[in-house]
Amino acid sequence: MGVGIIGTGHYAPDNVVTNKDLEKIVDTTDEWIRTRTGIEERRIAGDEEDSSDMAFHAAEKALANAGITAEELDLILVATVTPDTPFPSVACMIQDRLGAKNAAAMDVAAACAGFMYGVISGAQFIKTKVYKHVLVVGVDKLSKIIDWKDRNTCVLMGDGAGAAVLGEVSEGKGILSFELGANGAGGKELYQNEKNYLVMNGREVFKFAVRQMPESSEAVIRKAGLNKEDVDYLVPHQANIRIMEAARQRLNIPDERMAKTINRYGNNSSASIPIALSESINDGKIKDGDIIVLVGFGGGLTWGAVALKWGK
Ligand code: ACO
Repeated sequence: MGVGIIGTGHYAPDNVVTNKDLEKIVDTTDEWIRTRTGIEERRIAGDEEDSSDMAFHAAEKALANAGITAEELDLILVATVTPDTPFPSVACMIQDRLGAKNAAAMDVAAACAGFMYGVISGAQFIKTKVYKHVLVVGVDKLSKIIDWKDRNTCVLMGDGAGAAVLGEVSEGKGILSFELGANGAGGKELYQNEKNYLVMNGREVFKFAVRQMPESSEAVIRKAGLNKEDVDYLVPHQANIRIMEAARQRLNIPDERMAKTINRYGNNSSASIPIALSESINDGKIKDGDIIVLVGFGGGLTWGAVALKWGK
C-alpha cells in the first residue's frame, strides 16, 4: 500500500489587487514588481473573510474531488501562520463547519513550508494504518499582517487556501520520499514583529531559498531512487519567479512542466503549493503515473519537499 493525495481543491478571494493599484499606495512600479518577482496581481480577502472561511471552501472542494464525506476524515491538519485566532484553531473551526465529527484537528505553523510539514505529518498516520483519511489545508491571510506602507513586503503577498485529502493508494504510487528541515538561527530574517507585521530581510531569504529549493528537490529525487530526468512536473513554493527558476533549471525541467501561479496570486504562504497543485490538476497538466516534486521554504526558517508518483 502507498500513501498519496486522493483529492485536491483551492480557493482564492474575488478581490484582485494589481501592481498598478499598489503604485497608488507605496513608492513602487508595475515594472519593478514584475521584473523582480514575476507577480502581476494578487487576491486580497476583505474584513468579512478570514483564514477559516478560505480553508473551509478549499476543503469542501478537496473532499468532493476525493469522493469522500467529511465524516470519513480521521484528522484535519491546517498549515497557517495567520489563524483567525490562536485557539480555537482553524482546523477545529473547519472541523465543525464541514461536519467532520470523527476527525481530530490541529494547526501546524511552518510558514510557507507549512503545507509540506502537514502532508508529511498526516501521511505517517496513514502509513502506520492508524488513520485512513487526513485532510491537509494550507491557508493564509497574509494581508492582515502586512504593513501596507512597507514596499519591501506589501507587493509580494496574497491571500488564499489550498487543500489535499491524503489516503491509501496502490503500491508504488503516492509519496516516494520526503525531506523536512529547519534552521531556527535564520528566524531573524523573516518574522512577525511586535506590531504583528511581517518583517523580511529579502536578500537573505532570497539567498537561502535559491540554495534550498534545488537542494531539497535533488534530495527527494535521490531518496526515491530516481534521476532528475524522471521528474515530470515541479510544484515549487510561489515566492519569486527567480527563485522558482533556480530550482527548475537545476532539475533541467522545461518551463511548461513547472506550476506557475505567482503572476496571478503572488506569494500565498502556506497556500501557495496546494493552490498551484490543485490548479495544475484541474488544467490537466498532471497525469496518472507522473513523478511530481513539491518543494517549499519559509519563515522559521523551514523547508520541505516531497517526491510522489501521481495517481490512486
Ligand atoms: N518597489 C520598488 N523598489 C523596491 C521595492 C518595491 N516594491 N521593494 C524594494 N525596493 C528597492 C529596495 O529598497 C532596494 O533599494 P536600494 O538598492 O536603494 O536599497 C532595491 O529595490 C533593490 O533591492 P533588492 O533587495 O536588491 O532587490 P531584489 O532584486 O533582491 O528583490 C525581493 C527583492 C523581491 C524581496 C527578493 O529579495 C526576494 O524575492 N526575496 C525573497 C522573498 C521571499 O521569498 N520571501 C518569502 C516570504 S514567505 C513567508 O514565509 C511568509
